[in-house]
Amino acid sequence: MLAVETNKLGKKYKSLEALKPLDLAIEPGEIFGLVGPDGAGKTTVIKLLAALIRPSSGSAKIFGQDTSKDPEGARRYIGYMSQSFVLYPELTVSENLDFFSDLYQVTGDEKKKRMVELMAFSRLGPFKGRLAGKLSGGMKQKLALSCALIHTPKLLLLDEPTTGVDPISRRELWKLLYEIWKQGVTIILATPYMDEAERCSRIAFLNKGQVLLCDKPENIKAGVGFKVYQLEVLELQKAYELLAKSQIARNAGLFGGHLHVHLDKPEQELAGMAALFRQNGIKVISQKQIEPSIEDVFLSLM
Ligand SMILES: Nc1ncnc2c1ncn2[C@@H]1O[C@H](COP(=O)(O)OP(=O)(O)OP(=O)(O)O)[C@@H](O)[C@H]1O
Ligand SMILES: [Mg+2]
Repeated sequence: MLAVETNKLGKKYKSLEALKPLDLAIEPGEIFGLVGPDGAGKTTVIKLLAALIRPSSGSAKIFGQDTSKDPEGARRYIGYMSQSFVLYPELTVSENLDFFSDLYQVTGDEKKKRMVELMAFSRLGPFKGRLAGKLSGGMKQKLALSCALIHTPKLLLLDEPTTGVDPISRRELWKLLYEIWKQGVTIILATPYMDEAERCSRIAFLNKGQVLLCDKPENIKAGVGFKVYQLEVLELQKAYELLAKSQIARNAGLFGGHLHVHLDKPEQELAGMAALFRQNGIKVISQKQIEPSIEDVFLSLM
């Protein structure tokens, strides 16, 4: 049985198509990434799957349970972590876990066992008496993740779990996600970060409510039909703007401190670029061909 199966699942807000009809099949055991810019529809997909909003068209099944016909049944399988902070800041770490276990009707010995497991898993044990509002950003996310796991869900829906979290905590959170995944939990996460997309077993690129591409990261990169060159230049912004205006390259983008250009016929286009930069007094420090990254593919799709 599929973990998630959608059939022309769509959502409209008045005339705005937040999600165009989507067919999705996710196997148990996948880590599936929903990637896309602000307003792409990532949260909409997650909320539809979590049976928190109703589709305008089509349907979704979670382990066979239809989210419209049997939302309660579908939700039993789901752990959900929303994009906004949902913990109770005035409650302590353990009180928050306690609250969520009551909410999900995890009681008695099962509750005790689960609280101990999750405290150990999240490494929040030493902080169990601390108010949630006084935790660091990374610890808040770990607690929110633990709360989402209290009822041992088979499917975890995470809406930007690492946004606003420092790099070290991000790495720790990913370690936890892999632990959960190794236990057999299917994970779907929305992320604006391309390096996180690379860690997924499959990615769907969303833009303006539409899935532009859905595949394994390695297949996506292997399917790229252009060459990627990485340039180090002195006046990065100016070089980028000149290049974007000139339309010499198929695409140009700023990646950290570098310029990435996508070329169809490198020999010709590199000569054109060199001339353009020379005319405008831009000094190129280095230039080399590199393997396309997921971010390059994303740039080319936008
Ligand atoms: N309740 C709502 N009423 C009206 N429009 C909405 C509502 N919720 C979302 N939208 C719109 O639907 C579109 C998709 O929004 P969604 O929140 O799914 O995007 P997102 O990819 O999660 O973006 P972000 O990265 O900002 O979280 C956006 O244009 C948004 O403004
Ligand atoms: Mg969102």
